[in-house]
Amino acid sequence: MDMKPRTFLAPRTIVTGAGCVEQLGDHAKKLKATRVLIVSDPGVCAAGMIEKVEQPLKAAGLETGVFAESVPEPPMTSVDDAARIAEDGGYDCVVAFGGGSAMDTAKMVAVLPGTGKKVEDYVGIDVLDNPGLPVIAIPTTAGTGSEVTKVAIFANEKLNVKQGVSSAYLVPDVALVDPFLTMSCPPRVSAASGIDALIHNIEAYTSVNATPLTDMYAIKGIELIARSIRTAVYQGSNVEARFDMALGALYGGMSFGNAGVTAVHALSYPIGGRFHVPHGDANTLMLPWVMQYNMLGCLERFADIAVAMGLDIEGLTAREAAQMAVDEMRLLADDLDLPLYLSDVGIPASAIEELTEGAMGQTRLLVNNPRTLTRDDVVAIYTACAERPEG
Ligand SMILES: NC(=O)c1ccc[n+]([C@@H]2O[C@H](COP(=O)([O-])OP(=O)(O)OC[C@H]3O[C@@H](n4cnc5c(N)ncnc54)[C@H](O)[C@@H]3O)[C@@H](O)[C@H]2O)c1
Ligand SMILES: [Fe+2]
Repeated sequence: MDMKPRTFLAPRTIVTGAGCVEQLGDHAKKLKATRVLIVSDPGVCAAGMIEKVEQPLKAAGLETGVFAESVPEPPMTSVDDAARIAEDGGYDCVVAFGGGSAMDTAKMVAVLPGTGKKVEDYVGIDVLDNPGLPVIAIPTTAGTGSEVTKVAIFANEKLNVKQGVSSAYLVPDVALVDPFLTMSCPPRVSAASGIDALIHNIEAYTSVNATPLTDMYAIKGIELIARSIRTAVYQGSNVEARFDMALGALYGGMSFGNAGVTAVHALSYPIGGRFHVPHGDANTLMLPWVMQYNMLGCLERFADIAVAMGLDIEGLTAREAAQMAVDEMRLLADDLDLPLYLSDVGIPASAIEELTEGAMGQTRLLVNNPRTLTRDDVVAIYTACAERPEG
């Protein structure tokens, strides 16, 4: 690890623990809010959860408005539309309430109004030049870590890829991480979002931009998620497992938000953007194949991951331990019934050229990868996971 000066961004206030959403009104008042826009999505609404944020805001004497139409894996134009609705409402604070899709939509809704710009105009690193309204982020999945990151990810419908807006202005002011809010997540959502959080920690730990601070969060995040993800998925009422997952996702945000993600996300974005495969599924699919490729670039780090996952590496070489970590990912994907091959999600091998184009365009992520990737390497990785073998 080099000793270059590195910046670590995080919200000024992070509250964790069961029932902490009840403190929302106090935090909004500290931000001088008077009229608060709650941004969420229909799934969260259908789970009957909006009142969990509306009630504490109203109890604190604040006016509220609700926009619960954010779209899962949000297309850019859907966010532009949401921002236009918010523009006329006279709001002075935004509550980002939901999974990564709703939180990312909310983060942009807080910065777009009044700028005359669209999401597309702010794609890239530090293009956004407007602090916008204060944001309180409250995750309802244990997944993206968007409650603490400087990133928001959207589907560019014109280019058929996912693209990110990355800016210090997107770091929420307050994150309230309440594991009770994730209890209603169905198993599929818990599995896909939970493994995304694991991947954030793994990619941050193996990023060439990892720092001592991001390592601390990443390795602990891997440990928490590896020990609890199966229980959280298959016994969703288990509060301890849900709390481990909520913290593991938060740590994933703290680590990857500063160290970056690497080729797993780069190769999964075209799968999501072009074929609309949910983010967690697309990432799981790519994970073992990219890890297999990457491990030769940083064997010791992959051996550390094996230890954090609770694997016994006594007497093994770093290479053997690293291989155990990769094999464990395949087992985990199988246990959680998540895809491992392009054919599992209906993508034909004929799409590999197009997927490769999309992945090579993710330079913001590929520069973090611990092993150099050429175009041919990317084709080889997609080809390796094209078809599930028979039997
Ligand atoms: N900003 C970041 O730092 C970051 C990082 C990784 C991924 N992402 C993005 O986040 C999105 C994925 O987010 P996600 O995995 O959290 O899923 P999601 O937000 O798309 O939610 C998945 C589904 O679960 C439902 N849901 C959420 N919470 C629920 C609950 N408590 N009970 C019942 N249903 C619930 C939602 O309504 C939705 O239908 C993708 O667009 C991805 O690109 C962002
Ligand atoms: Fe992710």
